[in-house]
Amino acid sequence: MEQERKIPKHIAIILDGNGRWAKKRGLPRNAGHVQGSRTVEKMCKEVYNAGVDYLTVYAFSTENWSRPQSEVDAIMKLLSSYLKDCLKRSKKNNMSVKVLGDISRLPTEMQEQIKELEEVSKDFDGLHFQVALNYGGRDEIIRGMHRAALDRKEKGLSMEDITEEEFSSYLDTKDIPDPDLLIRTSGEQRLSNYLLWQLAYAEFYFTDTLWPDFDKKELEKAIDFYNGRDRRFGGIKES
Ligand code: IPE
Ligand code: IPE
Ligand code: MG
Repeated sequence: MEQERKIPKHIAIILDGNGRWAKKRGLPRNAGHVQGSRTVEKMCKEVYNAGVDYLTVYAFSTENWSRPQSEVDAIMKLLSSYLKDCLKRSKKNNMSVKVLGDISRLPTEMQEQIKELEEVSKDFDGLHFQVALNYGGRDEIIRGMHRAALDRKEKGLSMEDITEEEFSSYLDTKDIPDPDLLIRTSGEQRLSNYLLWQLAYAEFYFTDTLWPDFDKKELEKAIDFYNGRDRRFGGIKES
């Protein structure tokens, strides 16, 4: 009997290679980011059509502030217009959107945009789309730890009750299942501080394709790879 094709419930993506994509074409780096944002939009549709419930993309890391100010400014501008479009698309496609990361360092206007987007879309039951923005896995864990400690102090609770499950509820990904599949484009094979806690048991798929060139075919390849894996979670294979 032919085995049923497994579709990951949650795909996390490190979208990388926007700058190289632009350079190859003699264009400014920002042209790569613009094209990359179009690919994100397309992928929201493609993953949902493929049967994926959760998609989490890495848009801007806590380390990306160290890029030249002109690039940071251009990315922030692009993200702001992206979030505006996202509000329309979330309503149209019934997509719920959440931002992961420390948004307090973002421009006030963008923080307002994010709050509105999350509020308006919170009950939509189409794709659950997470955008990691000013996100760093270590930063998330430290912020979560501070909140957990503060809660305990204020409510007179003990630190002893902090289980893995309890601690997870203090992370930005509260209520979101861990990713099953991580995709990183552009040939790099590192985590760059992405979802350090949540990726504990994900399968990792790396492709040389630059993010702006990533398409439905590439997604299919990643899902094929996932199907070829034998997920164990520390146990042994049942035959
Ligand atoms: C990924 O593309 C997008 C962001 C990190 C914002 P890059 O900008 O890192 O592109 P490369 O790695 O320089 O090609
Ligand atoms: C990781 O990509 C961050 C995002 C995709 C937002 P980078 O291109 O910034 O990562 P490094 O610097 O190559 O590790
Ligand atoms: Mg990069």
